[in-house]
Amino acid sequence: MLILGIETSCDETAAAVVEDGRVIRSSVVSSQVDLHAQYGGVVPEVASRAHVDLVVPVVADALVEAGVELRDVDAVAACHGPGLAGALLVGVSAAKALALVAGVPYVGVNHLEGHLYAGWLEQPDLPTPMAVLLVSGGHTMVVAVDGPGDYRVLGETVDDAAGEAFDKVARFLGLGYPGGPVIDRLARDGDPAAIPFPRAMPGELAASFSGLKTAVVQYVRANPDFRVADVAASFQEAVVDQLLEKLALGADAVGAASLVLGGGVAANSRLRSRVQELADATGRAAFLPPLALCTDNAAMIAATAHHRLAADGPTSLGAGIDPSLRLV
Ligand code: KG4
Ligand code: ZN
Repeated sequence: MLILGIETSCDETAAAVVEDGRVIRSSVVSSQVDLHAQYGGVVPEVASRAHVDLVVPVVADALVEAGVELRDVDAVAACHGPGLAGALLVGVSAAKALALVAGVPYVGVNHLEGHLYAGWLEQPDLPTPMAVLLVSGGHTMVVAVDGPGDYRVLGETVDDAAGEAFDKVARFLGLGYPGGPVIDRLARDGDPAAIPFPRAMPGELAASFSGLKTAVVQYVRANPDFRVADVAASFQEAVVDQLLEKLALGADAVGAASLVLGGGVAANSRLRSRVQELADATGRAAFLPPLALCTDNAAMIAATAHHRLAADGPTSLGAGIDPSLRLV
């Protein structure tokens, strides 16, 4: 079974062909990062227009790379939420049109479920229950996964997402967009214990990052001679400490057998090594997906669609998008 998946929820235009929900035949991602960098963040209308320009060539590339034609695919899937409304509409409209032309089912996929599926794509035998830390520019949550379609959100951020905190702090420090990779790099030359930034909501599964962002701003204003590497390292350590505490609490609460990372912030080198340490210390398996599967991609959408189609059947062509769609 071949599924063509499309992902346009934010600033990546992506298409992929996945076989039997497991084998990635192709995965093409066209990032708009350069387009949005000049504004210091994603501009929704700019993103939608770029998706309109890119979706057809990106889908064509994905089919060519997979060595298939549209008539060979058994279903066409698209992410239908959560995300930016105009951006979602482009991928969903394209997927419905292609499904109609090919005479195959359309499947709408939840972006967050897609991120959870990215782990299974590489490692189908991960022991359950899993505690998944989903951390991106739009989301920060700990999810217990008991199997495909079987999710419990254990805790999530009450304000900013972790990636958003990286981006906002980087913008404040004049480091450009996106902020995560540059802070990660600068932090390597800094002292993570130099500045005692706050770790919010200790002992709780919920997280919060807006106070930390404010603490960084206040520190920098009060210390004009600040060392940027120390600020980066201390800020990053505060984020990672907080995320690790939530993951550990969630994993203990559900007796997790494995720890899994997902979302763009899962690219963070400090977070990856700390999650591995936590797994080793608690006798659990850790799965840190390759970066291409952590950040937004369409392979995770096509893989999720395989399961959704089997469980729920096709999505109606009359179904729309939901920018605020929740995982469960
Ligand atoms: O999952 P993603 O590609 O898009 C969303 O769905 O948001 O995540 C993008 C986020 C951005 O906030 C970016 O700054 C962050 O992931 N990010 C990182 C790193 N690489 C990307 N954050 C921390 N460290 C990194 N190395
Ligand atoms: Zn995402």
